[in-house]
Amino acid sequence: MAEKILKYLSENEEVNTLKLAEKFQEDHQKIIGFLKSIQANGDLVIAEPVSQKNIELTEEGKLVANQGSHEANIFNVVPKEGISQADLMKLPNAKVGFSKAMSNGWVLVDKIVNPPLVKRKVPEIKDSVQEHLKLVDAGKSSELTEKDKAEYKKRKLIQESLIKSFVLKKGPDFSLTLNKLETDLTSEMLANGTWKTSKFKEYNFDALGVPPSSGFLHPLLKVRAEFRQIFLEMGFSEMPTNNYIESSFWNFDALFQPQQHPARDAHDTFFISDPQFSYKFPESYVEKVKTVHSKGGYGSQGYGYDWKLEEAQKNLLRTHTTAVSSRMLYQLGQQKEFKPIKLFSIDRVFRNETLDATHLAEFHQVEGVIADYHLSLGDLIGVFSEFFKKLGITELEFKPAYNPYTEPSMEIFCFHPGLKKWIEIGNSGIFRPEMLSPMGLPKDVTVIAWGLSLERPTMIKYGFNNIRDLVGPKVDLEMVQRSPICRLTK
Ligand code: PHE
Repeated sequence: MAEKILKYLSENEEVNTLKLAEKFQEDHQKIIGFLKSIQANGDLVIAEPVSQKNIELTEEGKLVANQGSHEANIFNVVPKEGISQADLMKLPNAKVGFSKAMSNGWVLVDKIVNPPLVKRKVPEIKDSVQEHLKLVDAGKSSELTEKDKAEYKKRKLIQESLIKSFVLKKGPDFSLTLNKLETDLTSEMLANGTWKTSKFKEYNFDALGVPPSSGFLHPLLKVRAEFRQIFLEMGFSEMPTNNYIESSFWNFDALFQPQQHPARDAHDTFFISDPQFSYKFPESYVEKVKTVHSKGGYGSQGYGYDWKLEEAQKNLLRTHTTAVSSRMLYQLGQQKEFKPIKLFSIDRVFRNETLDATHLAEFHQVEGVIADYHLSLGDLIGVFSEFFKKLGITELEFKPAYNPYTEPSMEIFCFHPGLKKWIEIGNSGIFRPEMLSPMGLPKDVTVIAWGLSLERPTMIKYGFNNIRDLVGPKVDLEMVQRSPICRLTK
């Protein structure tokens, strides 16, 4: 076809692509496609874009062209002796037809009789509307006056559309055949000098590249990117979480978690054997933590037991990212002047769990922390309602819970429309004064916080029932390649 077009152009000065489509009985879009492949061969033709207005019939216009105008149809059903207006109005399109027939002076309403009758006013009519629309249908709309066109447009019998096409002329490199363009520069071309005269195919920068065969993000990382984006949008800064190994002190003691607490047992926590202990802690703070655990303070009676430094020195794999939050809040308490702050973290934590379909010994936590003056439970609910809204979760419910470091504490439940049930998605609370006051934070500063796992929303989002399909040695690497990017709100 491309060569047929070139041949036509060699015999003619210029041609419109619409004309070519008609001549070669081809779809106009296809002709444009052939033009593009001609153009890819160099300046064989000059193509000037033109657009022309086209007038075509609307659905109603087609009806009129075939069956006559509504007003003519009305006139035609009115018998000599007349017809009751009510009966006339039962016909299709009678309202428009009747009012047009009236204003054309074709019919009249005889009100002397009761009920009034519609009668013919003239013996015969000419349906010029139908004739005009037939002309339009035959592509002869130029024979209509502007006034008629405007009228039919108003009556929605015709509509205008814009047709884009090209006018083609011979170009500076006009030829009757397409040369196959070179796609590669080869060593032979360089050696024998043909590269100087060869024509090369232009780069197509719009072409999709070859997909890389490695370097895909795991679904957990994709969901993490979404969570991070939400926190950043809400003005949170990210906490440094690059230490999986933590001391019991920051993981538990600083959080007012008593040393006999079952979570501090080796059945729940992985302790480190080498190095077994940490020795560097802020001394005066350690004293305060010891006092609040053993004797109380700040209005609390404490736990009343013998707090031991050796227990706090034990290294472990952190059991929650709240260990990092406690370090950050301590630093905040040490600043000369308190400034409100919003922090978040998303990173890995470790627990000595019995493995099953939804539990592994390691997972990721998503944690948000806000420190400001006089925050309330209402602020907490407000902030994470906003947070979860950005995840596309709008129905939330709360259940009282217990954490050694928060009071009150709430478990967060959300309604999962896919699973059609309420599921637990997170834990939250207001940090206790026994935790914050030893850190040096002012009395009227409240810290609200919440945490959830990264795995749970990822499993729901990507439809995994078994966590082992998502994490661990049984993961199908192709799953990682196939998984689309994550948009939590969609
Ligand atoms: N650390 C809690 C957990 O591991 C989550 C949490 C964070 C709860 C902050 C309250 C406040 O489940």
